[in-house]
Amino acid sequence: MTIFDVAVWSQGRVRMLDQRRLPNAEIYHDYGSAAEVAEAIRAMVVRGAPAIGCAAAFGVAVEAFRVRALKGVPDSWVEAMAPGLAQLRQARPTAVNLGWALDRMAPLLLTVDPEAVPERLLAEAEEIRQEDIAACRAMGALGAAILPAPPPDRPLAILTHCNAGALATAGYGTALGVIRAARARFGRVVVYATETRPYLQGARLTAWELRQDGFDVTLMTDSMTGHAMHCGRIDVVVVGADRVAANGDAANKIGTYMHAVLARRHAIPFLVACPLSTIDLATASGDHIPIEERSPTEVTHWAGQPVAADGVRVFNPAFDVTPAELISALVTERGVVQPPNESAIRALFGSLESLPGTG
Ligand code: MRU
Repeated sequence: MTIFDVAVWSQGRVRMLDQRRLPNAEIYHDYGSAAEVAEAIRAMVVRGAPAIGCAAAFGVAVEAFRVRALKGVPDSWVEAMAPGLAQLRQARPTAVNLGWALDRMAPLLLTVDPEAVPERLLAEAEEIRQEDIAACRAMGALGAAILPAPPPDRPLAILTHCNAGALATAGYGTALGVIRAARARFGRVVVYATETRPYLQGARLTAWELRQDGFDVTLMTDSMTGHAMHCGRIDVVVVGADRVAANGDAANKIGTYMHAVLARRHAIPFLVACPLSTIDLATASGDHIPIEERSPTEVTHWAGQPVAADGVRVFNPAFDVTPAELISALVTERGVVQPPNESAIRALFGSLESLPGTG
């Protein structure tokens, strides 16, 4: 499959593919401080929950190298790194992978030989990246194994919303990981990608990423899903997540909830694929997940041109929450929970043997 440098270490800096420019241009930028990486996350140079986590981890590492080059080894790494960590933490609110990665990096500031902190942070960031690729591959295999068999007259038709692919992770993808593994299992699948208004992650990113790998992709606007399901074109829906609460409610790109409701209405399985780093046991239910609201111009403008009445008020939430009851299965690297429920989700973090669906 095609490999993208979504967020990697390159010659002492954090290198990221500028996803705002896709699919028209493949441009990479290098970042040298936590502030710069935080701004790149906020501006969506890098996006997608696990990818944001990886970028933040490398942002911490690059900040430590910057601090040491500027002032030598500080008396307190915690104090020296506090502003950079705060900037990274505030970059975007909904995807829990950001805070998860920072919480994993922060203790190293206290527990490592002060001279070696930058190198140790970099090693940890690289480990987070490698773990995410492995998690995506494991999720792909587990998710593909529970997909329904294709109908006799055509390949399995999978609908996905937003981009939960290699571009949204360290590589391979969560929902698109399941789709990649499904193609390996069945020989051929067809993918319906929703446009994903207003930021067009489906049109710009998913369609592009899947075409790079020779998938049969059909693009449609978000509002066409109900009709496509009614016509029998969709066999299963697979999406990613930005934060899954302890009870299984899943925040994902705006429009996901609508697709889940439609899938239930048409008795179509609705799968959510995400790594454990996206599950937030400290958040009891979806009602407590912070939902980012973005600029009104994403709705009022098209390619820089105004398309809405001047002065109109705009509601532009970037995410919504799909209640656990509408999710047929939660696919993680540690096993499948179907349907999602709190005790089975908590068990994912403990013993593997006790998991339902991991057989
Ligand atoms: O606003 P974005 O593009 O960061 O939103 C991304 C999504 O909602 C993805 O579906 C989610 O992060 C899962 S990525 C594996």
